[in-house]
Amino acid sequence: DTQKVIAIDGPSASGKGTVAARVAAALGFDYLDSGALYRLTALYAQKQHVEWTDAAGVAALAENLPVRFDGGAVLLDGEDVSADIRSEAIGMGASAVAQLPEVRAALLQRQRDFLTDKGLVADGRDIGSVIFPQAQLKIFLTASARVRAERRAKQIGLPCEGVAFDRILADIEARDEADRRRAVAPLQQLPDAELLDTTDLGIEETVKKVLDWYHKV
Ligand code: C5P
Repeated sequence: DTQKVIAIDGPSASGKGTVAARVAAALGFDYLDSGALYRLTALYAQKQHVEWTDAAGVAALAENLPVRFDGGAVLLDGEDVSADIRSEAIGMGASAVAQLPEVRAALLQRQRDFLTDKGLVADGRDIGSVIFPQAQLKIFLTASARVRAERRAKQIGLPCEGVAFDRILADIEARDEADRRRAVAPLQQLPDAELLDTTDLGIEETVKKVLDWYHKV
């Protein structure tokens, strides 16, 4: 394969998005945030009053997602939903619809279409296993659940202790558990993926590590 892909998979709030976007910028590659497609599907279903458990109904919406990526903004049906799709409730909805094989099938080609001769950095749960198994470099990016919860709390301006923080931590653990245990395309560390644990690593060091690996392959 001549088209270059870097696959970054890992649990929620592991920093995949930030790292993937920076690596893509450094290499001049495009960037695919696959989780955003699952989040958009969950939000669209909610807006259309389709239950997250309705496989055929949600898959039909996923197939025809009226989405446009406009610079940093995500438009659904022309409406800027960049902030709406980041809520923890929609994260849970994304995790629910992501368990449906029909929905994953509906989003498969859309994800593959992001790959061009420019090269692509894609992040998600099944990028290295299902979407781009041919990726030249696969990374399993993780960190302890507590550190991931702390990063999420800081991001939304909450203290790293107390009831609200415990809630964030519990939500992260519940979503990871669901993503790991599901039957179809579960979150897993592949044998051919590099393990990158960022519990004690900053963004810059993490990005550098990925670029170093990439330059070796
Ligand atoms: O990465 P992010 O937290 O935005 O993903 C939201 C949810 O979408 C995940 O919890 C997971 O269930 C699902 N997802 C997936 N496969 C991907 C990306 C995301 O199942 N490639």
